[in-house]
Amino acid sequence: MNKNKILVTGGCGYIGSHTIIEILEQTDFEVISVDNLMNSSADTLDRIEKITGKRVKNYAIDLCDLAKTEEIFKENTDLVGIIHFAALKSVPESVFKPLLYYHNNLNSLLNLLKLVEKYQVNNFIFSSSCSVYGNVSKLPVNEQTPLSIAESPYAYTKQIGEVMIKDFVKNNEVKAVALRYFNPVGAHISGLNGENPINRPSNLVPVITQTAIGIIPEMSVYGYDYDTRDGSCIRDYIHVTDIAKAHIKAMNYLIEGKNEASYEVYNLGTGNGITVLEAIKAFEKVSGVKLNYKLAERRPGDVVAIYSDTTLSEQKLGWRTKLNIEDMMASAWKWQQLLLEEKKAK
Ligand code: NAD
Ligand code: WQD
Repeated sequence: MNKNKILVTGGCGYIGSHTIIEILEQTDFEVISVDNLMNSSADTLDRIEKITGKRVKNYAIDLCDLAKTEEIFKENTDLVGIIHFAALKSVPESVFKPLLYYHNNLNSLLNLLKLVEKYQVNNFIFSSSCSVYGNVSKLPVNEQTPLSIAESPYAYTKQIGEVMIKDFVKNNEVKAVALRYFNPVGAHISGLNGENPINRPSNLVPVITQTAIGIIPEMSVYGYDYDTRDGSCIRDYIHVTDIAKAHIKAMNYLIEGKNEASYEVYNLGTGNGITVLEAIKAFEKVSGVKLNYKLAERRPGDVVAIYSDTTLSEQKLGWRTKLNIEDMMASAWKWQQLLLEEKKAK
């Protein structure tokens, strides 16, 4: 049988949905999703359909339930690969609810790997995070940078997840890639799909767009006296569509057998460090909106600066980012405005 279907876990979430859109628009793969909607909404399936003209089937199943998850594998015998996004992802929440994070992120992965083995779905991509590096002393961060002690239970679930996969693929036919994302931001370039934080956001870009639209009266820039070019922290913001495209590259790379090892790791960043104040300026430029912000105390747990070395992903996966900070801000702004219109229409 010609296996041509990809199972995307967490397909109704932020990065999963953007990846599904790119798969549908750029490839011949079929896609199904499994997402129990614990941090997303089934509306995302409508948004995907509006952009691509295609309806994706989502199994609203908890991946921590092995028996139910197995039904997906029984029904879909033509899976060529899995892209595993589903996880809880809030760093501060994981500090308060560590068991929830260990339970959800690790049991879901464990179940999937059992089924990967049983049903021989041999190409596996895992969403990891630059948070696995912890506090780094040398920039930019490359894949050889040693992992230091995780700063949060969330980051630790990613470190453990990577080890589980690495150990697992040693004794079977499965090939896996872990992609360590830096700071994914922005929305689909049409403005028709994006991140829709259920609670008050803590990440910079949703805070910026919610401030601009008036949901947040005034935002804080956490730290203005760091040893950086303008005193604010530096991050490697990367457009979610560039991240999405990297998954297609990585999946084809595995399917075509271009990998040298059965488990490989790649950073996904732009290589450009951007300060908080530069991000704000970029937003103001593309939106024409003056942001109401104040310079505030440092946020506990923040690292001063982190950005990626992009050499390996460029050389091996043949992937490089195309969208810049202004594209990220312009798309996030379009999306925020659509959310407001939808709210008014309700
Ligand atoms: P998201 O919360 O928008 O999407 C994750 C989806 O997984 C959600 O729709 C949620 O309902 C689903 N899910 C969670 N646990 C599940 C379970 N047990 N069974 C079924 N579905 C489940 O998050 P995102 O931003 O799209 O992140 C995707 C992946 O990328 C996550 O693994 C995250 O840790 C990783 N990541 C995200 C970022 C970021 O800043 N967004 C950065 C680095 C890594
Ligand atoms: C970016 C910068 C803040 C809000 C987190 C996770 C990481 C990864 C990505 C999952 C920092 C500053 C923010 C605000 C601000 N996620 N900021 N005012 O902390 O780099 O990374 O998301 O894997 O693991 O830790 O992202 O967007 O929260 O912050 O000044 O209201 O913006 O201090 O310098 P972070 P962020």
